[in-house]
Amino acid sequence: MAPPSAGPLIVGTGIAGLYVAIRGRELGLRPTLVTKSALEESNTRYAQGGIAAAIGPDDRPALHLKDTIRAGAGLVDRGAARILVEEAPRRIADLVRLGVPFDTVEGQIALGREAAHSRSRILHAGGDATGLQIEETLRARAIELGVEVHERTSLRRIVAEAGRSVRVLLVREGERGGTWIEAGPVVLATGGAGSLYRDSSNPSVATGEGVAVAFRAGALVTDMEFIQFHPTVFYREGAPRYLMTEAIRGEGALLRNGRGERFMPNYHPDAELAPRDVVTRAIRTEMERTRERCVYLDATGLPRDRLLARFPTISRFLAGYALDPSRDMIPVTPAAHFMIGGVSTDHEGRSSIRGLLACGEVAATGVHGANRLASNSLIEGLVFGERVVRQLLHPASGGPAAPSQRVMVREASGAGAEAGPEEVAEIRDVLWNEVGIVRSGPGLRRAIRQFEHLHRRIAPAGPEDPPTPIANAALAALLIARAALTREESRGAHYRSDFPRARPEWRRHLGLLRPSAPPSAARSRSRPARARKAVRPT
Ligand code: SIN
Repeated sequence: MAPPSAGPLIVGTGIAGLYVAIRGRELGLRPTLVTKSALEESNTRYAQGGIAAAIGPDDRPALHLKDTIRAGAGLVDRGAARILVEEAPRRIADLVRLGVPFDTVEGQIALGREAAHSRSRILHAGGDATGLQIEETLRARAIELGVEVHERTSLRRIVAEAGRSVRVLLVREGERGGTWIEAGPVVLATGGAGSLYRDSSNPSVATGEGVAVAFRAGALVTDMEFIQFHPTVFYREGAPRYLMTEAIRGEGALLRNGRGERFMPNYHPDAELAPRDVVTRAIRTEMERTRERCVYLDATGLPRDRLLARFPTISRFLAGYALDPSRDMIPVTPAAHFMIGGVSTDHEGRSSIRGLLACGEVAATGVHGANRLASNSLIEGLVFGERVVRQLLHPASGGPAAPSQRVMVREASGAGAEAGPEEVAEIRDVLWNEVGIVRSGPGLRRAIRQFEHLHRRIAPAGPEDPPTPIANAALAALLIARAALTREESRGAHYRSDFPRARPEWRRHLGLLRPSAPPSAARSRSRPARARKAVRPT
């Protein structure tokens, strides 16, 4: 492929990547966008729930902050969260300026309520098509502004020297070797890793590639044990695991087990509107108890007109399976949904490698702590995307503080063997079975052994060989399992049956590093909560 023109290289075309490209272009930069898929394919497109911002007359950023901190189970970075809630209204104004058609009532933006939000502060567009509307608006604007786009092109490697990224390897689909280019600033906006799990609400592009590439280059990666599971995706053998937004429960739908019994009041005082991890585990327990493969979302108490108006996309999807939510129970099951951890960044989107920035789901800003508040992810991509643009315009040195506990993960050198659908299925099954909703030490050790074994077979043989996407997926899976084994407690989205409670000594972030990471990544800028525990490299 022809090397992209000089200017920042932005990898990923969800809300964060598109927004950085648009704002960069508006402010005089010449960004290049690359995506391993088509321009329109990203997790953003499938976001139904909405985007949170304290813009209602009875709301304030301080209340949004309180809810975000409460959801995060003791691990929210308060500074980052304050930035999120205070800058959110301005970023919404940007979306309005760019033409996102938010739903309105009597001329005012309509605000919905979701679980764990103390106020109505969720904006929607097209009912349950918020992500799609945002993505289409931003994509059209990026094209209008003449942003250079390379589709079907993936970032496979970053080479850093003396703590600065110097070269990147871009590989076009179907090409073997790829093209090395001198790196100017690189912005990772590659999204999450949900589709590494057998059951996932994410599109197939969400494979954790950005995390694997950054980790291999020596970047600090944090909080990978916190994979958020969504309680309700559509369940039918052979059908896609299509998201059934939490907003349906927000409107009053109930959850029933295979025997038709409502069960959530037995698990939490907030019943169907309990925190996502509680609802997810309750569903899993009910499925085991009743030996059923799903539970049911019962929206039959809601008026048909209301369901059609508020959830038009979901209603159309269900009609394809001859289901009418005002009459029929919707079969649902939990699925992997959101990667809370990722490439560790400071408040300006700077990673531990100079010249490498990250925003959106791939970045670990600390705003979500151990459990993300619903609808805080799209807004995170915008708020920290804007800050990344500021860094692109006026670069300054900085980077994330080192976490108080670090684990060195040695990447076994591989034989570079070909991998295909069997290896992908292996990763997805092992993650689902052993690193899923409920984890335990023995299962996590089994998973690590399997990922290491797979890795030795398929990882690239030489330091400059292009890893295949499946080798990157195996590395991302290994990082999730390694972090989950190290965190010997249950907190937020991470649940261990052998350590079922939160432990005060674990109120800390967990960082993962390669043994030869640049010194900037390993340097501790904050006093550790206690002496660092040595953890044997894998
Ligand atoms: C949902 O609509 O239930 C998902 C929204 C989110 O994950 O923020």
